[in-house]
Amino acid sequence: MRTYRIASIPGDGIGVDVTVEARKVLDRVAELHGFGLEWTEFDWSCERYTETGRMMPDDGIERLSTFDSILLGAVGFPGVPDHVSLWGLLIPVRRAFAQYVNLRPVRLLPGTVSALANRSADELEMVIVRENSEGEYSTIGGRHNGGAPGEFAVQESVFTRTGVERIVRYAFELARTRSGHVCSATKSNGIIHTMPFWDQIFAEVAAEYPDVRSEQCHIDALAARMVQQPDRLDVVVGSNLFGDILSDLAAAVTGGLGMAPSGNINPPGEHPSMFEAVHGSAPDIAGQGIANPVAQVLTGAMLLRHLGEPDAAQAMDTAVEKVLAEGVVATPDLGGRATTAELGSAIAAAL
Ligand code: NAD
Ligand code: IPM
Ligand code: MN
Repeated sequence: MRTYRIASIPGDGIGVDVTVEARKVLDRVAELHGFGLEWTEFDWSCERYTETGRMMPDDGIERLSTFDSILLGAVGFPGVPDHVSLWGLLIPVRRAFAQYVNLRPVRLLPGTVSALANRSADELEMVIVRENSEGEYSTIGGRHNGGAPGEFAVQESVFTRTGVERIVRYAFELARTRSGHVCSATKSNGIIHTMPFWDQIFAEVAAEYPDVRSEQCHIDALAARMVQQPDRLDVVVGSNLFGDILSDLAAAVTGGLGMAPSGNINPPGEHPSMFEAVHGSAPDIAGQGIANPVAQVLTGAMLLRHLGEPDAAQAMDTAVEKVLAEGVVATPDLGGRATTAELGSAIAAAL
């Protein structure tokens, strides 16, 4: 029997609750489809930081490197500054393993209601292809003149030709398998160095794909379009920060943050990829057992698809759709009263 070795990092807040449910569904689907999942759990989290001063041990990356894949809950909790917790765990993993694509598909699932009125499911289906290794997320810069009237902070963005080309090309390849349309998020009217560079590379790559329709849209107008004309979007490619913001917006106009999966992908497969829902640790509802586990279950399906188990992945997607369409077991964000565990169990039972 084929067995995959998976590292699980539940992390903080609801990351823990939803990862338990995703594992429940993953273990069941593996049993039904005749493969094994061998889990190793890591307690890397803000709690661990409070005890040890580190989010993960010094050899954390080395330890993760031997796994076939990584399932992450969420990182971040009040008490530890977010830039400390995220730069101590999530962001270093993405970079060490060259997970340069952050793939964030969203669609309106059966039985759920969009925040937008009068929109059908086929109008609300898109995928955000987010650059995940450089851009606005950079350590270059600093704070100066602390406490003085002239105090200031500088934060540099880094856009490399290699980095932009590979993410744009990924978006065009993906568009070929979908609607054949790519929209690039830019802001070259206001950001005069990096964004014209991004646009130039986008145009160069677009020329290699005459069969794919392409356009670029300033991020402000694109945000409005996502709300007013979401049917005009399918594959949306954006820089690290733009892609981050657009992915919560895209989730919100479909079924909400509780429904949006994501994968940090290392396309060549030289390193493990890492899968985590788009949402964070949601401290406002943590510990209440009411988080929606659907995003993390769909994230688990992405993990299996990436490992080469498309039938099992499809079975998970179908089980989610079935339970949501029935509408009997639903968490509060979906208008129901079910707990995280009840919804997870219902999905596992629907397989
Ligand atoms: P968040 O996504 O955690 O929460 C935003 C809102 O959405 C909250 O009201 C929350 O209750 C709701 N929500 C999110 N997921 C939900 C779910 N599954 N079911 C029901 N409701 C859900 O974003 P935030 O509040 O900005 O961030 C909280 C913490 O998480 C911060 O420390 C942040 O840095 C971190 N964060 C981590 C990740 C990650 O590790 N991948 C992603 C985003 C944010
Ligand atoms: C996400 C998160 C992270 C990001 C934060 C927590 C650093 O918002 O995965 O979308 O911006 O990449
Ligand atoms: Mn985000």
